[in-house]
Amino acid sequence: MKFFIDTANLNEIKEAYDLGVLDGVTTNPSLMAKEGIKGAENIKAHYKAICNIVDNNVSAEVIATDYAGIVREGHELAKIDDKIVVKVPMIKDGIKAIKYFTNEGIRTNCTLVFSAGQALLAAKAGASYVSPFIGRLDDASQDGLELIAQIRQIYDNYGFDTEILAASIRHTMHIVHCAEIGADVATCPLSAIMGLLKHPLTDIGLEKFLTDYKKVNG
Ligand code: G3P
Repeated sequence: MKFFIDTANLNEIKEAYDLGVLDGVTTNPSLMAKEGIKGAENIKAHYKAICNIVDNNVSAEVIATDYAGIVREGHELAKIDDKIVVKVPMIKDGIKAIKYFTNEGIRTNCTLVFSAGQALLAAKAGASYVSPFIGRLDDASQDGLELIAQIRQIYDNYGFDTEILAASIRHTMHIVHCAEIGADVATCPLSAIMGLLKHPLTDIGLEKFLTDYKKVNG
């Protein structure tokens, strides 16, 4: 299972990368805005800075919603670095553009996916990644993990190469459940990744080991 971090914050990306378990980064316009990144050139420079930290898989989202605009922006984003994956919304022109990028050998991440039918379409268009938003489904009283399981079954039925990138992850148990179901990737806030480290019995056990060591060794 790949671990991506879902942020545009360079310090958080560095911290996750330094842990040695990070396979990529996902961003979106809201995450870029949160970091105060604005203006086309600054946005491109920020994506480049992210690419300079990690080894691969940096999702950069288009703003355009029409086919020609998505294709134009996608090319601009892909030019920034080979590590860029063009993130395209699940809309009609987005699907057409994903098919185009697939034929051009440009990797894509189909975002804002909330149903198995949408995920099927993204795979048919050749998306490299499909991003079901599980937290937002949970927020709307629909089981996000159920959607991951449905997509897993559909992709396995037909041998689709599209990787399931579980997005909108809110906590560590989302990651664990996604791993059980067979999501290919989880993109998570830093807190959820670091949360995987924690267990109170680990802390208690370590304290006892160190106390016992000190008793004998001073
Ligand atoms: O990057 C897309 C996704 O992970 C958004 O998450 O927390 O805004 O629902 P969230």
